[in-house]
Amino acid sequence: MFSIYVEDFACPMPATPLVLFAHAADAETVRVAAAALGGVADVRSLPEDPDERRVLLPRAVALLVAGWRIPDDELPFLDGVRFVQRVWAGAETLPFRRMSAHAPVAVFAANAGPNAPQVAEHAIALYLAAAKRIVEHDAKMRRGGWDQEKPSASVAGSRIAVAGWGHVGRRVGRALSALGADVVAIARSPVVDQGVAKSGTLADLRAWRGGLDGLVLALPLTNETRGLVDRAFLEGMKREAILVNVARGKLVVEEDLHAHLVHRPSFRVGLDVWWHYPKADGRFRDPLGFASLPNMVMTPHCAFHVPGARATMVASAARNVGRFLRGEAPEGVLDPAEYR
Ligand SMILES: NC(=O)c1ccc[n+]([C@@H]2O[C@H](COP(=O)([O-])OP(=O)(O)OC[C@H]3O[C@@H](n4cnc5c(N)ncnc54)[C@H](OP(=O)(O)O)[C@@H]3O)[C@@H](O)[C@H]2O)c1
Repeated sequence: MFSIYVEDFACPMPATPLVLFAHAADAETVRVAAAALGGVADVRSLPEDPDERRVLLPRAVALLVAGWRIPDDELPFLDGVRFVQRVWAGAETLPFRRMSAHAPVAVFAANAGPNAPQVAEHAIALYLAAAKRIVEHDAKMRRGGWDQEKPSASVAGSRIAVAGWGHVGRRVGRALSALGADVVAIARSPVVDQGVAKSGTLADLRAWRGGLDGLVLALPLTNETRGLVDRAFLEGMKREAILVNVARGKLVVEEDLHAHLVHRPSFRVGLDVWWHYPKADGRFRDPLGFASLPNMVMTPHCAFHVPGARATMVASAARNVGRFLRGEAPEGVLDPAEYR
């Protein structure tokens, strides 16, 4: 069992520790982080100039990671790093392996929570859009269609599992319960929450999936959760079930979901997260052609994105660095073994 004690974080610090972004952060982002740290640290963006980097990297006590632009041959300069803080909630891209040889005592933390209300709202929007065929009807009516006979799915009285009962999942589950669904909570430890019909683990989810009308994924992407929803999983679900993923694309096997949607047109999906992300041209990369399927509702990983969202995340991440620097227990501490 992975456990952390407050004493684990008590380590000697320089008078004004350096907190360094692992990419070239803009001046406003640095300002937000510095303000949230309240003067306990010097906050810098990663310099473009290699000579400047070689001066700053050895001074860094903590890294703020929203992107990673530190070249591999400069990793040995990071041996003073004690804390690696992700700016976003999903932590699977943190450099666990690369850092382990150079900063073996570094503690890693995710930033789950600050945007959870908006992500949960988005999950509900995707679920309802799929259940009520909103996109399908909208597209048809714009072409002059009127398909009043096609039934939508009811949330009230349905059984919906929410996989991941954390900051996002429990908000989704409570909202679905308020709409009258029987909510099944999936986490590692038992869930006691008003409106939860029953709770279980991933093994239980696999066993119970045939009785579900819907499944919302709100799990981190880890060794255990990657590829959870594969062909066998999908084939064990109801033909007309609804799947929503606001967590990470790779919780689902891309090819298996695509094939399932093609062969089971009654199965519906709402996705905010993907397997491929745009390159420099900014275009949606959809090699299998999800965009041509009518039983899909799609959004471009924007669940978190409301005005001020980025600054909220940066401030929250920086406050967590502050906890660490003061010797307090930081939030969202990760077990690197889950990510290797
Ligand atoms: N689309 C977006 O814009 C967006 C925004 C924010 C987050 N996300 C994604 O959503 C994920 C969840 O966010 P969150 O804030 O809710 O995270 P969180 O608060 O850390 O909650 C994670 C939940 O997953 C459960 N879990 C983890 N591993 C598990 C396993 N092997 N088996 C069963 N349950 C497991 C945890 O259970 P225990 O509590 O029992 O450990 C916890 O309930 C993030 O990791 C991120 O990838 C996406």
